[in-house]
Amino acid sequence: MNVGKSFQLSTVLLYLTFALPVHAQEILAATPPMGWNSWNHFAEHTNDKTVRETADALVSTGLRDAGYVYLNIDDTWEGQRDTNGFIQSNEKFPDMKSLADYVHSKGLKLGIYSSPGPKTCAGYEGSLGHEEQDAQTYAKWGIDYLKYDWCQSSGSRDQMLAAYTKMRDALKKTGRPIILSLCEYGWNKVWEWGPSVGGNLWRTTGDITDQYRVMAEIGFNQNGLEKFAGPGHWNDPDMLEVGNGGMNEDEYRTHFSLWAMLAAPLIAGNDLTKMTPYTVEILTNREVIAVDQDPLGKQGFRIAQEGPFEIWMKPMSDGSKVVGLFNRQRTVEQMTVKFSEIGIDGEATVRDLWLKKDQGAFKDSYSAYVPTHGVVLVKIKAK
Ligand code: GLA
Repeated sequence: MNVGKSFQLSTVLLYLTFALPVHAQEILAATPPMGWNSWNHFAEHTNDKTVRETADALVSTGLRDAGYVYLNIDDTWEGQRDTNGFIQSNEKFPDMKSLADYVHSKGLKLGIYSSPGPKTCAGYEGSLGHEEQDAQTYAKWGIDYLKYDWCQSSGSRDQMLAAYTKMRDALKKTGRPIILSLCEYGWNKVWEWGPSVGGNLWRTTGDITDQYRVMAEIGFNQNGLEKFAGPGHWNDPDMLEVGNGGMNEDEYRTHFSLWAMLAAPLIAGNDLTKMTPYTVEILTNREVIAVDQDPLGKQGFRIAQEGPFEIWMKPMSDGSKVVGLFNRQRTVEQMTVKFSEIGIDGEATVRDLWLKKDQGAFKDSYSAYVPTHGVVLVKIKAK
């Protein structure tokens, strides 16, 4: 290599790094976080082995390259505190630092879980009174993401804000960029104050389950929260159930489409080592992921509803509009989006994001048959 040239290049790079204004440097969760979490499938049966196998699977299935980089360990990893009050992992996770090193070596990031209360939801050791020590321990291990779950905590709205602020400050003090995921089920209108206590995302609902009824109730109820989401701070309607077996293919497409329309965190919750081809196809549909990850960071919202038929729209940074035609009924139905409802006058091109196919140019409206509990997801661009 030409030494002179490489010196010049590194000098330029160094200059660029310092010359960049702070806001142009990486912001945490600039787009909704993507990854995997142990809870929905493994619950308390997660351990070092499942996490390492999941890290391998994230790479081999192409999920990592599609954007799923956070590998998050949920509740039940916690052991006892040592005599100085530092938290230790339990026997399921013999060496958290070496696990983090392994996860990082795969080009992934590691997430962990705790609670502001004395105990976590599953009754393990919480962080109350040890916030700084825990944040330091996470940083020492190489943790990149913390889900902080209210659960067995108690107190008023102000006490809740104070508890989250305490952990935000403790994390900040470590100097390590760690995403803070607030989990308090949407109580006290968390979307109004989530960013002020350092939340990069906050749960807006109770726990999801792997049933169409529950998923649909949570997802379609997010309408109205769109003004609270944006780069660095996102509404979180809970983790994905895609691939866990309780819904059919159309229902999982609805789940994934709706979460993408909502600019929701895409945190897979299935066993990545045993996926059917359609589960992989849903989770890695790059055109749908691009809807979720659009840099404009606008959360979609409902623009029309007739009983069980809902039309949602998400404005995109390229000026196009993504439209979801959702059929919550048990029969196939034809649904129509009028271009006047999405601010397009006259002709527009339509691309179907599940068929991955340009449908052509249409004037004034677009109609499609939507399967039972299914969705047609299209990107519409004015001509
Ligand atoms: C709560 C959370 C879940 C999960 C469990 C773990 O129920 O909402 O997502 O973290 O606790 O105990």
